[in-house]
Amino acid sequence: METTYTKKAQKQRKTNYPINNVILGRWSPRALSGEKISDEELFSLFEAARWAPSSYNNQPWRFLYAKQNSKHWDKFFNLMVEFNQGWAKNAAVLVVAISKKNFEHNEKPSRTHSFDTGAAWQNLALEASSRGIVAHGMEGFDYEKTRVSLNIPEGYNVEMMIAIGKEGKKDDLPEDLQKNEVPSQRKPLKDIVFEGHFRL
Ligand SMILES: Cc1cc2nc3c(=O)[nH]c(=O)nc-3n(C[C@H](O)[C@H](O)[C@H](O)COP(=O)(O)O)c2cc1C
Repeated sequence: METTYTKKAQKQRKTNYPINNVILGRWSPRALSGEKISDEELFSLFEAARWAPSSYNNQPWRFLYAKQNSKHWDKFFNLMVEFNQGWAKNAAVLVVAISKKNFEHNEKPSRTHSFDTGAAWQNLALEASSRGIVAHGMEGFDYEKTRVSLNIPEGYNVEMMIAIGKEGKKDDLPEDLQKNEVPSQRKPLKDIVFEGHFRL
């Protein structure tokens, strides 16, 4: 499903090579409407995350969530820095993504637990934007408080938070955030891809 927000990115972003519109249309708006999303929709996003690839198929990702107006909401909301609280207050769901640091088959440390969980987050984000739902990643929250408040054991790494919700109106954002409410651009390919060996 294409929405105003995904169409806007598809229009304003120019690629040098053709790519899937779902990838181009995903971005991170902060304007959210405060509307609920159904459990069906929410669990389709977790389902998408579930199918990400991972080293040894270890699936180190775990997702903890709180819905707006639920008894868990305040606990999650209070983890965020003030800046993120300012716009994410209109999210339908807040998610904390964590990853298991050791492999399950031998309990040895996994090098890629965070990397694999990043792939799962991206699956979630693409599934969301393909349905016209916003999924906005955040590192602006208290990682230590999160561990304590959400009972996260030492063997798990706290990775990120995600604000999930329905697209809102730019005008509903505080003025200073309105000017940044545009799809971002990217570095040129020549700065990130190297044939043969690394070059600065
Ligand atoms: C791991 C991660 C952490 C982020 N932290 C924040 C954050 O704390 N607050 C915020 O407003 N945006 C945050 N963002 C959004 C990024 O700024 C955004 O993804 C980036 O600028 C690229 O823009 P786009 O997602 O719109 O394409 C975060 C994104 C990721 C993936």
